[in-house]
This record gives sequence, structure tokens and C-alpha cells, in this order.
Amino acid sequence: MTTGVIQHNGEPKGNNIRKRAANVLGRGLSTYTPTQAVISKAQGSTLWTVDGRELIDMSSGVLVSNLGHNHAKFEAKYAEYCAELPRTSYNMLTAIQIEATERLIHSLGIGKAEKALWAASGSEGVQKAMWAALHRHPDRPIMAATRGGFHGKKGLAADVTGETSPNPNVRFISFPLDDDQPKEFYERELEALAEEFPNRIALLITEPYLGAKGSFHPPKWYHQLLQEWCAAHDIAFIFDEVQSCHGRTGEMYAFQSYGVEPDLVVMGKGLANGEPAAAVVGRADLIDTLDYGEASDTFSANPRACAAVCAALDIFEEDGVVAQCQAMAPKLAAALEDLRDAFPFVTAVRGEGLVYGLEIADGPTAQRCVLEAYRGAGGKGVHFLGPLAQKVLRVSPPLVITEAELEEAVALLHDAWARVEVPAAAR
Ligand SMILES: Cc1ncc(COP(=O)(O)O)c(C=O)c1O
Repeated sequence: MTTGVIQHNGEPKGNNIRKRAANVLGRGLSTYTPTQAVISKAQGSTLWTVDGRELIDMSSGVLVSNLGHNHAKFEAKYAEYCAELPRTSYNMLTAIQIEATERLIHSLGIGKAEKALWAASGSEGVQKAMWAALHRHPDRPIMAATRGGFHGKKGLAADVTGETSPNPNVRFISFPLDDDQPKEFYERELEALAEEFPNRIALLITEPYLGAKGSFHPPKWYHQLLQEWCAAHDIAFIFDEVQSCHGRTGEMYAFQSYGVEPDLVVMGKGLANGEPAAAVVGRADLIDTLDYGEASDTFSANPRACAAVCAALDIFEEDGVVAQCQAMAPKLAAALEDLRDAFPFVTAVRGEGLVYGLEIADGPTAQRCVLEAYRGAGGKGVHFLGPLAQKVLRVSPPLVITEAELEEAVALLHDAWARVEVPAAAR
């Protein structure tokens, strides 16, 4: 367990807030990030610390602010949609909830997107998708999931996360990592599972890419194979796009990048550009298995969250955000490859669109990279999340980051990482 209050030289205001946080805020609420940046304001891809330093945001606040912080047009539209809305939940309807639902369904652009359920967090959205699939076939208790995924920390979402499960009905199948096997390997594994549990598997849940495991992006044929297998055995194909939805991979949805049409798509994070909203969209025969009250909770389909969903969709539709992501993607890839070539401790670059992982030689060096990036140079730095899977830096700037901002961030990293000692293993 990490103990002690994080403090940084020359940050009196930030240090004061960190100390007060340690007194009153359960530390389980955050993942460990050695910087514990204390932010007082933000605009676009820039964050300002409470002590007045500027940071270029490589996290999008854990991939929630795809449109960047305080996007003027988004905020204006959001306020407009919110005007006069009641503060309510599931006991009455508002037009904005239906507008958000219809527009979200339409945004998927596939025939299977027929109905939706809302949730207040990604893991609740995953849970609802899984309930729907399990209710459809009460005689099918088995849940297949791709090994090493992250679907959340609660309930069924937690049961299908990671490599082992406390739930005896969960079976993991392999997901291609670096040492990938030929397609036949995955085919054989799937067929063996179907033979072991004939007509007993209700669902298969996967992520487009393994983010939390350290950014592993599979070949297209992998998801296509999963989809074919699900269709052949009447198994609900659930695509967890909590992290990838709304433009991250260079398409509005990652299922488009991978050429599949899932039965249920789960969304969260960037869906409402940082307002707490999640959703499941997909086949009506699955969604309709849940009766009155079976998927209700206080904040799901909250009118203000729905207003934010509509405002975000407006910006995506009007401002060509996905095209902007596509244009920036090769520039980000090239910049990260330059970093890999410059620093022996950067051992791999993996990603697509504007979501990448930079693998670092070891955990302590990865922590040091986050810290030195934050310290930066000349009053400016770069903000990263704490390393994932111990040693992978997530690179996920707002989709609206400009070329100049990206170049500045990379220049800062070249300076900052020159201060990171090369570990013996990487020399
Ligand atoms: C792919 C994926 N699924 C589900 C979740 C869980 O979402 P939440 O933290 O909103 O419950 C996350 C969160 O990081 C995620 O990345």
C-alpha cells in the first residue's frame, strides 16, 4: 500500500489541498498517480494547476472529455438544453430523454441499434447489458468474456474483468496480445467452449481493445470471428465501448473500426463529454427482456445527463470531430514512435486513433516518466494518468487537440524524459 501525502516543491496551494484531501477523502477513490495534480481551471487540452502551472492534458480526464475542457459551443448548447429541465429521475418522462435516446440509437447507424437503456456509470451499463442477455435465455447461465479485459469494479462487470472470476459461470477466452496466435488458435478455443456448453452460453462480452491491460489492439479478424461465433450459437455479442465510444479510435464507434455489428453496445465516459452518463444500445429483443423497474436506478437517464449527450452529439455532427481525430492520429503515432526511438526505456508503442499506450521498461521508470512529464520545463508540463498495468502510459488527449499543442507536448516530453535514468535492463 502506498502511504504518505504527495507533496511537490514550489506548490504551496496544491500541497495544502493534497494534505486536506488526505485527511478527509478516502484514497480508494483514486488510482495512484504520483503527480496528484491539483487543477483549478481547464480549457481545451490545457489544464492549469492551482499554483498556476500549465499542463497539456494527455488523459482527457480518463477519456471523458473527448471534446476537451470547457468547449464553448458544447457548454452553450448544454446550458440551452438544460434550461427549465426538472430535476427528476425514473418517475416521469422529459422530451430530452427521448431526444437523446433517439439520437444515440441513430448515431450507431446499424439496424441492430433499436432500443436503449441508460445508466450512470460504465459498469452499470455493462451490468444492464449482461442482465438483458441473461434474461433472454434463463436456461443459459454461462457468460464468456475475453481474458484481461476491464469492464468495471462492480457486480457482473467485475465478474468478467481480469483473468479469473469469483463467478463460477464465467469462462474467459483468449484475446490477442503481442505474442499473438494464428486465427485457428482462437477458432479452436471458441469451438471447444461451445462444445463444452451446448446451448448454455448466454453472452460474450469483449472490449474493442484491452485498455487497462496496457493497450492491446487486436487484428480486425478477431472481433469478426467473435461475432460469427456468437451468431452461429445464438449468443449475445456485447461490445464494451465505455472507453472507445464517440470518436476515440478514429470512427464514431470502435465497432465501425473493427467491421462488426454487436448485438449490444455499452457506452460511457465520452458519451456526455464528462457528465455522468452511460448507455446500452442494441437489439430490442434483448433490451425488452428487462421489465418495469428491473433496470431503473436514481440517476439513469437523468435529464441533465441526456442534455449533455445531445450537446455532445451536436458538436460531433456539426464540427467534424471524428475527421479531426483521423487527421491527428498519424501525427500522434509518429510523435510516439519518435519518443520510443529517443528513449531506450520506451519499449513499445501500441494504439489507434487517439488512444495509445507507451510501454515503459519497468514500473518505477514509468512512474518517474509521469512525474517528470508533470514537472516539464519552463512552467509547463504534460499530464498523464498513473501507469496502467504497472508500466504502460495511456496517451489519450482530447480529440480536439491541435497539431501545435501536440508538438508542444512532445517537445516537453523530450526535455523532461532526458532527466529519467535509463534502467540497467534497457541500456
Ligand atoms: C472498457 C471499460 N468498461 C467499463 C468501464 C467502467 O466504467 P465506470 O468506471 O464508469 O464504471 C471502464 C472504465 O474505465 C472501461 O474502460
